[in-house]
Order: sequence, then C-alpha cells, then structure tokens
Amino acid sequence: MRNDIERILVTEEELAAKVAEIGAKITEDYAGKDLLLVSVLKGSVVFMADLMRAVNLPIEIDFMAVSSYGSGVKTSGVVKILKDLDVDVAGRHILLVEDILDSGMTLQYIMEMLSQRGAADIKICTLLDKPERRKVNIQADYFGFVIPDKFVVGYGLDYDETYRNIPYVGVLKPEIYS
Ligand code: IMP
Ligand code: MG
Repeated sequence: MRNDIERILVTEEELAAKVAEIGAKITEDYAGKDLLLVSVLKGSVVFMADLMRAVNLPIEIDFMAVSSYGSGVKTSGVVKILKDLDVDVAGRHILLVEDILDSGMTLQYIMEMLSQRGAADIKICTLLDKPERRKVNIQADYFGFVIPDKFVVGYGLDYDETYRNIPYVGVLKPEIYS
C-alpha cells in the first residue's frame, strides 16, 4: 500500500504539531460558547479524532456523511446526504471539520443547509486546502496546510476507499488512478 505513495507531503510529526496548534486556537476562540464539532465522514475522522482531543472545552460532536465524488478523483458537483446529523443545530455554534477543501462545493452545500436550519454560526476547519481548485467562494476559518493540486491520500483521505489508514499525507502515484 505504501508503495503507491509517490512522496510524503505532510509527516506524522507535522500533523501532530499542527493539530495541537489549531486545537489551542479553537480553545481560545470558542471559550464560553456552546461548540458543536461536525465531522464530515469519512475523510475527516482521523483529523476529528485528533482535533477534538486538542480542544480543551466542553464540546459536543456529531457526524454527517455526504457523497460528492463516487470513486473518481474529480468532483461531480452533486452532493447527496447519506447520513444526517442527530442533533438539532438551531442556535448552535458549529465548526465543520473537513479533511480537504477542494472545489468547496461540498462544504458550501452543507453550510447552506445548516444555516437554513437556524445555526447561530458556522465556521470551517479543514486539515488541507487546495485553493487552486476552488469553484465557489468559500474560505476556511482554520486550516492546517495549503497544498498543491495533487491527489493526496492518508490520514483519513482515500482513493476509492483505500489508503485512509496511512498515518501521514502522501501524494498518490498518478498511475494508480489514471
Ligand atoms: P469538494 O466539494 O470538491 O471541496 O470536495 C471535498 C471532498 O473531496 C473531500 O472531503 C474529499 O473527500 C475529496 N477530495 C478532494 N481532493 C482530494 C484528494 O486530493 N484526495 C482525497 N480526497 C479528495
Ligand atoms: Mg473521498
């Protein structure tokens, strides 16, 4: 599996340091607020698991699953809710936890939906950001690493549901998906 990685983009050490840094910032920014961390499955589970432990506040967590990609590497633009949130978001301060902000279409859709449900405030925390590929006007409030337009896997990110358990972020060899 690790032979399919062309090069490591973000090491385990860099990930741990960045997660601690973002967690400290969130702890400061949301002190005294009622924070709900929403993880967008499945790609953000590893980041979410690490990040929530770096936030020193009485938070609540929830999960939602959407599909926008199928098994390909390019976004289809179609967002479908596969699993909705369990909690009522009306009046809540929501921080959406994502693995990667790419075209931005997935998060734009989710943000619109949550704001229609009456969320008090919705912000975005993404581990990776590929600004070159943005198709909608959306920006992360917290981000880990800005990366080039390469297809990456590991630390939760997949290609065709594989590679999520690689502990670092690596560039997938193009011959795997082309
Ligand atoms: P967006 O709607 O294009 O921003 O899609 C974001 C989603 O696409 C992420 O949550 C990932 O699941 C997936 N994605 C985008 N780029 C990559 C990548 O380089 N590797 C793995 N998944 C990716
Ligand atoms: Mg994916």
